[in-house]
Amino acid sequence: MKLFIDTANTEEIREAASWGVLSGVTTNPSLIAKEGKEFKSVVKEITEIADASPSNIASISAEVLSDDAEGMIAEAHELVKIHDVITIKVPMTEEGIKAVSILSKEGIKTNVTLIFSPNQALLAARAGASYVSPFVGRMDDIANDGAGLVAEIAEIFEIFGIETEIIAASIRTPKDVTECAKAGADIATIPYAVLKKMFRHPLTDKGIQQFKDDWAKVY
Ligand code: G3P
Repeated sequence: MKLFIDTANTEEIREAASWGVLSGVTTNPSLIAKEGKEFKSVVKEITEIADASPSNIASISAEVLSDDAEGMIAEAHELVKIHDVITIKVPMTEEGIKAVSILSKEGIKTNVTLIFSPNQALLAARAGASYVSPFVGRMDDIANDGAGLVAEIAEIFEIFGIETEIIAASIRTPKDVTECAKAGADIATIPYAVLKKMFRHPLTDKGIQQFKDDWAKVY
């Protein structure tokens, strides 16, 4: 499973990209608004960080805000001018799916977001989406099974040889990451704080201290 970071905060992206483990970045309107900066300038800054980093960042999702396919397509055409790694994030609606089917024929990468059922994922895949984003945490929030949704989508895509990649989104804990990997997600898009937690294990910290203490006793 590949690792993306789910943030529009450029400091977080810069640090995580420096580890060399990132394959992509996802943003959404809430995350962009949190930064309080102009949308396209944030997206451009993220592409510059990606270009300068040791990580192989092949996809940066930027979401469209129009309700109709025509508006989404016009926004997409502007966004892809920023950089060729830009992936157009489109909401799971009839108009969104219409836009995806046109953009995919134009060779523009798309990520269908706000996926909460296998049928929504199937519709998105058949429209030619590059990615579908099931929202794991928000499913769990309503006492549903987020990782189970990922597993169902992965099973269907496997049966029919569908190449659309599954991005497990709305990840809240390191355990979500492990469960989504086991469920067959191609990618997990992970908030910075959760990525940081993935490094940590008390026995690792204890072991490092022990090595240092033993060394210091002799040298
Ligand atoms: O990628 C979608 C994600 O940002 C949503 O996360 O925590 O708002 O459900 P959350």
